[in-house]
Amino acid sequence: MMDLPPFLLDHWLSKYDFATPPIAFNLASSTGPRWSVDELTELGGAPLDIARTVLSYAPPAGDRALREAVAALHAVDPDWVVMTTGASEALSILLCLEQRHAANLVIPDPGYPAYAAMARAWRWGVRQYPLAREAGFTQRRETVLNAADADTAMAIVNTPHNPTGSVMEAGELAGLADALAARGAPLVVDEVYHPLYFGAPLPSAAGVENVIVISDMSKALSLPGLRTGWIIDRDAARRGRIIDARSYFTISGSPLLERLAAHALRHADALLDRLRMVAGGNLDRLDAMIMRSEGVLSWSRPRGGTTSFPWFSDGRDSRRFCEALADAGVLVAPGDCFGHPSHMRVGFAQQAEGFEAAIMRFAETVAVCKSVA
Ligand SMILES: Cc1ncc(COP(=O)(O)O)c(C=O)c1O
Repeated sequence: MMDLPPFLLDHWLSKYDFATPPIAFNLASSTGPRWSVDELTELGGAPLDIARTVLSYAPPAGDRALREAVAALHAVDPDWVVMTTGASEALSILLCLEQRHAANLVIPDPGYPAYAAMARAWRWGVRQYPLAREAGFTQRRETVLNAADADTAMAIVNTPHNPTGSVMEAGELAGLADALAARGAPLVVDEVYHPLYFGAPLPSAAGVENVIVISDMSKALSLPGLRTGWIIDRDAARRGRIIDARSYFTISGSPLLERLAAHALRHADALLDRLRMVAGGNLDRLDAMIMRSEGVLSWSRPRGGTTSFPWFSDGRDSRRFCEALADAGVLVAPGDCFGHPSHMRVGFAQQAEGFEAAIMRFAETVAVCKSVA
């Protein structure tokens, strides 16, 4: 039996976002601005006719047109792409294929909580490499390699990174993939927030030797409800095993969702433009608010992605603050969901409207906390 810890982050998000009525301002989410089916199908002028889609199974690796659209996004061969049910299934598939008994997975700390939980559930050992906040939470080749040992069978970097918004330099990443190749361990690059960068854009890592990319429609493409993700792997033998695992796990994706995803990817520029507009403006507002907190809060300004990971400078636990802020109608996620209680995750990409009002309530709640500290 699997020993799964409670998914604290999702408990927190569900409690407020799926409430009736839902929280007024959601700054806890890590996705982009919301899209309805109407808005999506009408992109490009001639509406997509989804009513005639045949509801059979799709091919286990995914519909060819969809795989081609994903390949174009990452500038790789469409044969390398295998569709999955979100990056979540991609992660489980990669974990379930390992056969070595004492294998361990190297992951970032802080990081997306499913990495550690799912690795342990699939009977992997877990080794974490620290992201130093003083150094902007950057993922570095040496830090990852320091955490690896003779039993390391895979390492993960997540760039842009959830929850900190740090970005790994392309040269560092390629050097890490190369060093891991010498140990016979692939580097998994979780690119769900690619290509949302606030400085110079970076290429996808999918073309780098010894890299397996996992990604999705949920984050940078702002369509989590499509539950569509993918694995990009140039290794044909491993890809065959990945496709078999996919067949066993879920048989295939939904043809309906795959058509919507292919349509969305044909209009990726429109989705990304809207995301960049919302995230860029909100990030500046958040930055200004943190500066005005007069040292109560500190942060490292994100260089990519949709989330930031500010912290209370005096090291106090943020959960009571997050509860008080939720009572005021603004949701951010307590840092203990990521094993770092003095931090909080603040997302800035979903709230297309009202971010200014949310930030005012945020600043007021910080001021109250300051006066009672
Ligand atoms: C870094 C990261 N990877 C993977 C996922 C899984 O997302 P999905 O299953 O929607 O693709 C998430 C979701 O929050 C995430 O933040």
